[in-house]
Amino acid sequence: MQVYSEKVMDHFLHPRNVGEIPDASGIGNVGNVVCGDILRLYLKVKDGVISEAKFKTFGCGAAIATSSMVTELVKGKTVEEALEISNKAVAEALGGLPKVKMHCSLLAEQALKAAIEDYHKKVSAHEQETLKKNNA
Ligand code: FES
Repeated sequence: MQVYSEKVMDHFLHPRNVGEIPDASGIGNVGNVVCGDILRLYLKVKDGVISEAKFKTFGCGAAIATSSMVTELVKGKTVEEALEISNKAVAEALGGLPKVKMHCSLLAEQALKAAIEDYHKKVSAHEQETLKKNNA
Protein backbone atom coordinates (compact mmCIF):
# COMPACT_ATOMS: atom_id res chain seq x y z
CA MET A 1 0.00 0.00 0.00
CA GLN A 2 1.49 3.32 -1.11
CA VAL A 3 0.31 5.97 1.36
CA TYR A 4 2.68 8.71 0.17
CA SER A 5 3.23 10.02 -3.35
CA GLU A 6 6.56 9.40 -5.07
CA LYS A 7 7.39 13.10 -4.70
CA VAL A 8 6.78 13.01 -0.95
CA MET A 9 9.04 9.97 -0.65
CA ASP A 10 11.69 11.63 -2.81
CA HIS A 11 11.72 14.85 -0.73
CA PHE A 12 11.68 12.82 2.50
CA LEU A 13 14.56 10.57 1.45
CA HIS A 14 16.52 13.29 -0.38
CA PRO A 15 15.50 16.58 1.23
CA ARG A 16 16.61 19.70 -0.65
CA ASN A 17 18.24 22.69 1.01
CA VAL A 18 18.89 21.21 4.45
CA GLY A 19 21.02 23.44 6.66
CA GLU A 20 21.37 26.98 7.91
CA ILE A 21 22.05 30.37 6.34
CA PRO A 22 24.43 32.12 8.76
CA ASP A 23 23.58 35.64 7.53
CA ALA A 24 19.88 34.94 6.90
CA SER A 25 17.58 37.86 6.11
CA GLY A 26 14.78 36.17 8.04
CA ILE A 27 14.38 33.10 10.25
CA GLY A 28 11.11 31.38 11.09
CA ASN A 29 10.84 29.02 14.05
CA VAL A 30 7.64 27.08 14.48
CA GLY A 31 6.50 23.96 16.26
CA ASN A 32 3.46 21.77 16.59
CA VAL A 33 2.52 21.52 20.25
CA VAL A 34 0.61 18.27 19.72
CA CYS A 35 3.34 16.15 18.11
CA GLY A 36 6.36 18.21 19.19
CA ASP A 37 7.77 18.56 15.68
CA ILE A 38 9.87 21.65 14.99
CA LEU A 39 10.83 23.51 11.82
CA ARG A 40 13.36 26.31 11.43
CA LEU A 41 13.38 28.05 8.06
CA TYR A 42 16.10 30.43 6.86
CA LEU A 43 15.61 32.91 4.01
CA LYS A 44 18.11 35.06 2.16
CA VAL A 45 16.46 38.03 0.44
CA LYS A 46 18.15 40.24 -2.15
CA ASP A 47 16.29 43.22 -3.61
CA GLY A 48 12.97 41.83 -2.40
CA VAL A 49 13.55 38.43 -4.02
CA ILE A 50 14.24 35.21 -2.11
CA SER A 51 17.59 34.00 -3.40
CA GLU A 52 18.17 31.17 -0.95
CA ALA A 53 16.15 29.07 1.51
CA LYS A 54 17.30 26.39 3.91
CA PHE A 55 15.68 24.44 6.68
CA LYS A 56 16.19 22.22 9.67
CA THR A 57 13.29 20.03 10.68
CA PHE A 58 12.96 17.76 13.64
CA GLY A 59 9.84 15.94 12.64
CA CYS A 60 7.90 13.34 10.73
CA GLY A 61 8.43 12.41 7.09
CA ALA A 62 5.62 14.67 5.89
CA ALA A 63 7.10 17.61 7.82
CA ILE A 64 10.52 16.98 6.24
CA ALA A 65 9.08 16.61 2.72
CA THR A 66 6.96 19.77 3.02
CA SER A 67 9.92 21.71 4.47
CA SER A 68 12.05 20.61 1.54
CA MET A 69 9.34 21.52 -0.98
CA VAL A 70 8.67 24.96 0.49
CA THR A 71 12.37 25.86 0.17
CA GLU A 72 12.16 24.90 -3.51
CA LEU A 73 8.93 26.82 -4.08
CA VAL A 74 10.08 30.12 -2.57
CA LYS A 75 13.38 30.45 -4.43
CA GLY A 76 13.20 33.19 -7.04
CA LYS A 77 9.89 34.53 -5.70
CA THR A 78 9.40 38.01 -4.30
CA VAL A 79 8.61 38.22 -0.60
CA GLU A 80 5.02 39.18 -1.47
CA GLU A 81 4.63 36.20 -3.80
CA ALA A 82 6.06 33.86 -1.15
CA LEU A 83 3.46 35.08 1.36
CA GLU A 84 0.77 33.65 -0.93
CA ILE A 85 2.13 30.11 -0.66
CA SER A 86 -0.28 28.04 1.42
CA ASN A 87 0.20 24.67 3.04
CA LYS A 88 -2.23 23.28 0.46
CA ALA A 89 -0.02 24.57 -2.37
CA VAL A 90 3.00 22.88 -0.77
CA ALA A 91 1.09 19.61 -0.37
CA GLU A 92 -0.18 19.83 -3.98
CA ALA A 93 3.36 20.41 -5.26
CA LEU A 94 4.25 17.12 -3.57
CA GLY A 95 1.42 15.29 -5.29
CA GLY A 96 -0.78 15.45 -2.21
CA LEU A 97 -0.60 14.21 1.36
CA PRO A 98 -2.82 11.76 3.22
CA LYS A 99 -5.60 13.65 5.03
CA VAL A 100 -4.25 12.75 8.46
CA LYS A 101 -0.88 14.28 7.53
CA MET A 102 -2.17 17.58 6.10
CA HIS A 103 -1.54 19.30 9.44
CA CYS A 104 2.18 18.57 9.00
CA SER A 105 2.25 20.86 5.95
CA LEU A 106 1.04 23.71 8.16
CA LEU A 107 4.51 23.87 9.72
CA ALA A 108 5.96 24.81 6.31
CA GLU A 109 3.42 27.61 5.76
CA GLN A 110 3.77 28.93 9.31
CA ALA A 111 7.59 28.85 9.18
CA LEU A 112 7.55 30.71 5.87
CA LYS A 113 5.26 33.42 7.26
CA ALA A 114 7.36 33.67 10.45
CA ALA A 115 10.60 34.00 8.44
CA ILE A 116 9.07 36.74 6.28
CA GLU A 117 7.79 38.53 9.40
CA ASP A 118 11.32 38.34 10.85
CA TYR A 119 12.70 39.71 7.56
CA HIS A 120 10.24 42.65 7.68
CA LYS A 121 11.22 43.39 11.30
CA LYS A 122 14.92 43.40 10.39
CA VAL A 123 14.31 45.65 7.38
CA SER A 124 12.30 48.17 9.39
CA ALA A 125 14.88 48.14 12.24
CA HIS A 126 17.57 48.83 9.64
CA GLU A 127 15.50 51.65 8.12
CA GLN A 128 14.99 53.20 11.57
CA GLU A 129 18.74 53.14 12.18
CA THR A 130 19.47 54.71 8.82
CA LEU A 131 16.90 57.44 9.54
CA LYS A 132 18.49 58.14 12.93
CA LYS A 133 21.95 58.36 11.38
CA ASN A 134 20.71 60.69 8.63
CA ASN A 135 18.98 62.94 11.18
CA ALA A 136 21.94 63.05 13.57
FE1 FES B 1 4.15 16.37 13.61
FE2 FES B 1 3.86 15.57 11.12
S1 FES B 1 3.37 14.46 12.93
S2 FES B 1 4.38 17.54 11.83
